[in-house]
Amino acid sequence: MDHFLYKNGQLFAEDVALSEIAETVGTPFYCYSAATLTRHFLLFKEALDPLPHLICFAVKSNSNVAVLKLLGDLGAGMDVVSIGEYLRAKAAGVPGERIVFSGVGKTRDEMRQALQGGVRQFNVESEPELEALSQVATALGLIAPITLRVNPDVDAKTHEKISTGRKEDKFGVPISHAREIYARAAKLPGLKVIGVDMHIGSQLVSLEPFDAAYTKMADLVHELRADGHAIERLDLGGGLGIPYTRSNEAPPLPLEYGAMVKRVLGDLGCEIEIEPGRLISGNAGVLVTEVIYRKQAEEREFLIVDAAMNDLIRPAMYGAHHDIEPLIEATPGEPMMPVDIVGPICESGDTFAKQRAMPMIAAGERIAFRSAGAYGAVMASEYNSRPLVPEVLVSGDHFAVIRARPSYDEMIARDKIPDWL
Ligand code: LLP
Repeated sequence: MDHFLYKNGQLFAEDVALSEIAETVGTPFYCYSAATLTRHFLLFKEALDPLPHLICFAVKSNSNVAVLKLLGDLGAGMDVVSIGEYLRAKAAGVPGERIVFSGVGKTRDEMRQALQGGVRQFNVESEPELEALSQVATALGLIAPITLRVNPDVDAKTHEKISTGRKEDKFGVPISHAREIYARAAKLPGLKVIGVDMHIGSQLVSLEPFDAAYTKMADLVHELRADGHAIERLDLGGGLGIPYTRSNEAPPLPLEYGAMVKRVLGDLGCEIEIEPGRLISGNAGVLVTEVIYRKQAEEREFLIVDAAMNDLIRPAMYGAHHDIEPLIEATPGEPMMPVDIVGPICESGDTFAKQRAMPMIAAGERIAFRSAGAYGAVMASEYNSRPLVPEVLVSGDHFAVIRARPSYDEMIARDKIPDWL
């Protein structure tokens, strides 16, 4: 459930009409609902209680500092994959002891900064990374708490580009060698082994791959403890999928996920960490855009909108579906017509939807892409010299711009002409 609903024929974010925001901020813009973010976070909390746990929001899904603050204030930890994300979490007031540092290519400089600033754990993904972290921590005279990300070789049965837990994927250490690598880690100075980590992919629509991977993790925890390691934490990664269409079969709910976690891992005596991103932020956001032209071509009709693939790349990159709704609700019985909804960028990949059944929408009217709160603004670029889209947060009957639209001057001023030109 989210808080983007029609009221009196107008699409609202909580108690604010999206068209009111459009008048103030201009289009396109991202809009997030504080109540939806809160609700999704609390669903996970409820699902895992009373197990000792920490919900570490995957900052990569939505890294706006206001969003991080809202979740951090509710008690969320953060899962970061770069020092940039780490610093955002810190800027949002999240203490280092609630920040886990994931990622397959952490640099020594990133390790140093996180160690100095305080970090809950590093989720280490390879032997060379173990060595690097050991050296960095030793040089600083600090101890780095670590888990190893173990690749369980389980197919998450999701989109090829976001599947991460098969042995051919670049992530983690192979489960078949995990015991040797843990033995090595335990001997390295500056490191303290505290747990096991995994993440098999994103937008999973069934619990089975999680169940299979978590079962392997439970066996591994027993083996590692028998080998003498104190395994206190189990980081299960993120990945629970969301409904992108209303008509689709709904993916499992956090409560069902939590029940499975308790069944498979509840007796291990580990603190459970999870790293959900999409389920918390995805359906808590929309991208609002205005139709520039309605263009009749020979075979089809196009809605050319002022958002483009640089603002929301998921359809172009993954062939992803986003529900699209007009800000003014269609009247019951109004005829629907198939249209292609495209942006102004100079390539055909800049297509949000093909032959989507929509009510009659004229130039100057606005539509909203649903489920755009995760992997939307964070994946935006300035391709075609289009400034990054602003972000707005709604709470109840008020809203705030939480990232302003840069001016063209600001965008251009970042480039420097060398004095020899
Ligand atoms: N933890 C780790 C280590 C991850 O790599 C990811 C996502 C997450 C947690 C969060 O997964 P979630 O709960 O959001 O599924 N850009 C793609 C998604 C990439 C996901 C990458 N890793 C998209 O737009 O679908």
